[in-house]
Amino acid sequence: MPKKPAKKPGIPPVTTVAGKKAAAKKAASKPPLAAKTAKKPPAAKKPPTAKKAARPTLAQRADKHTLYQTSVQSPAVDIEFFEAEFAKMRGRKPLRMREDFCGTALLSTVWCKSDPQRTALGVDLDAATLAWGRAHNLEPAGPEVARRVKLAQADVRETRFAKVDLTLAMNFSYCVFHTREALAAYFAAAYQGLVRDGVFALEVYGGTESMSVMSEERPVRGNVTYIWEQEKFNTIDHHTLCHISWRFKDDSVLERAFTYDWRLWTLPELRELLLAAGFRDIKFYFERVDGDEGDEFLTGTGEFIARTEIDNQEAWLAYVIALK
Ligand SMILES: C[S@@+](CC[C@H](N)C(=O)[O-])C[C@H]1O[C@@H](n2cnc3c(N)ncnc32)[C@H](O)[C@@H]1O
Repeated sequence: MPKKPAKKPGIPPVTTVAGKKAAAKKAASKPPLAAKTAKKPPAAKKPPTAKKAARPTLAQRADKHTLYQTSVQSPAVDIEFFEAEFAKMRGRKPLRMREDFCGTALLSTVWCKSDPQRTALGVDLDAATLAWGRAHNLEPAGPEVARRVKLAQADVRETRFAKVDLTLAMNFSYCVFHTREALAAYFAAAYQGLVRDGVFALEVYGGTESMSVMSEERPVRGNVTYIWEQEKFNTIDHHTLCHISWRFKDDSVLERAFTYDWRLWTLPELRELLLAAGFRDIKFYFERVDGDEGDEFLTGTGEFIARTEIDNQEAWLAYVIALK
């Protein structure tokens, strides 16, 4: 089984059953850059603040798409997991993949790099994000790979695309659909877009903390702190408003670079809607954890296993696989 690093929004590396995590510090409570550098002797003629103001902060220089990719995406791990599960269920290797809500199409690019026979179709509404992906993922991968990745600026509920073996919708993007009708329409389109033995996969997050107003931080590559913030959660309709920010080693913050206005769907709702769309079997994969009975904290192993029963936890992330 693959090792899946805990690199997803809101999901900490340790699965906690009963433990309380320390409240995350608010980004704004960090000392500003001026306080950190106050001991430096002032420049002879210029007031020190003038020089500092002229130099862009790390947050101002950062690229939010690069940060997003390194903080919450792990395409090679996802691909290894799905190709192994697909092979077990279907006895063959998936070659044609569709990446819904593809954003910068990182997953599509890594998919096509992983095998010269593979093709990918990335679907996303946002032209600017697709253009970033073309310039920063597809083109650097070289013409042979880029030729096999098609990008469509479209709604994922459109049904005009060629059928694929595997459709992947990573990182909870289907939560943009707030009503059963809208999500049902998406699942129907996903079903229609698959070949006869096709497979559709999503990610879902949950746990008691997913229904709270909270914020948490974790370090990511390059001395940067990733901040996941759940600003609102409405218990009545599961409407949640979440943000991603990053703080840098100069204490500058790229504040709320991404905002998600989502409905947090539950596993029974997803199962019922996927079955109603025509999928015949729905599997939920949870991470195997290490630890003894009564331990306050359990450690994630990176191994995801199909489960039909599981205790709730403070925070969990699961894969959902729906078989046509
Ligand atoms: C969270 S980002 C994508 C992340 C990426 N798939 C990942 O695995 O991290 C969500 C993307 O969904 C796109 N999006 C939102 N609603 C959409 C829709 N109805 N159809 C297609 N794309 C949509 C947005 O433009 C945005 O790029």
